[in-house]
Amino acid sequence: MKKIWIIYDVPQYENNKWFAKRLKDGLVGAGEAEVVMKEDLKEPFELPDVAVVRTIDPGLSEYLESRGVRVVNPARVSKICNDKRLSYELAKSCGIPFQEYYDLEAGKEVPPEAFPVVVKTVSGHGGKGVVLCGNLYDLSKAGDFFKNDKIIAQKLSGDGKSGRDMRVYVLGGKIYKAVLRVSKKDFRSNYSLGGKALPAELKPEEEAMVYKIVEGLGPNDLIGVDFLVTDEGLLFNEIEDVVGMRMLYSVYGIDAAAVFADYIKSLL
Ligand SMILES: Nc1ncnc2c1ncn2[C@@H]1O[C@H](COP(=O)(O)OP(=O)(O)O)[C@@H](O)[C@H]1O
Ligand SMILES: [Mg+2]
Repeated sequence: MKKIWIIYDVPQYENNKWFAKRLKDGLVGAGEAEVVMKEDLKEPFELPDVAVVRTIDPGLSEYLESRGVRVVNPARVSKICNDKRLSYELAKSCGIPFQEYYDLEAGKEVPPEAFPVVVKTVSGHGGKGVVLCGNLYDLSKAGDFFKNDKIIAQKLSGDGKSGRDMRVYVLGGKIYKAVLRVSKKDFRSNYSLGGKALPAELKPEEEAMVYKIVEGLGPNDLIGVDFLVTDEGLLFNEIEDVVGMRMLYSVYGIDAAAVFADYIKSLL
């Protein structure tokens, strides 16, 4: 029987215990599945055949892959998705539009006409490392605040008071479901910050954009491709590698853990 690790870190596990259990239960019979805490991983250990990585740690994915483990998602995906600069460079190479950004880490300056800008940590999640800066003074305060993180500044899309995003779930390289996230009280529409999630359908040209990104990214298992929604159409925003699936439950009533488990079984 194939050995499967479902890897979490302790804080992530605390927030996702129910999902972790459902995922593990969904794999019963197909493999020997175990929920493993990253903090407990100390060599020597017997490596699994498959590792479902639900902690954000590109280095861990790379290590496991180098040891012959089939990592879900592959290490290249984790690396690109967890550095917003690499994600935007990918979009650029695929010809997908995105809001112009300035790599402050690389010493890029924000020209006065670019304000207001959205400052974000390159590896942040859940909207927590994302702030709006109206001028150079705000930007310097953000720089101080994020002094331990790599940050970028990006032109603002929208009015800075409300937010609209499109999340596209891609499973096994195929578009699975789209969800529109809307916030009326914050420019960040993250679900974890109170954004409202609604069912959405993509237009054919939007689907084509998603597939260009998905192909450029290389083989991937389960990702969330996110866009800012503007009056002129979608602008690529980021890709989530350890993508949360609560919205699939709340919007579509989908047992996402069972769907993911079935997909993992298809890999065995
Ligand atoms: N350039 C931007 N213009 C307008 N809103 C933005 C911009 N960048 C991000 N946002 C809003 O902030 C949210 C969080 O930013 P995001 O880049 O997705 O970081 P995180 O990885 O923390 O989710 C997005 O979902 C979107 O609603
Ligand atoms: Mg986001």
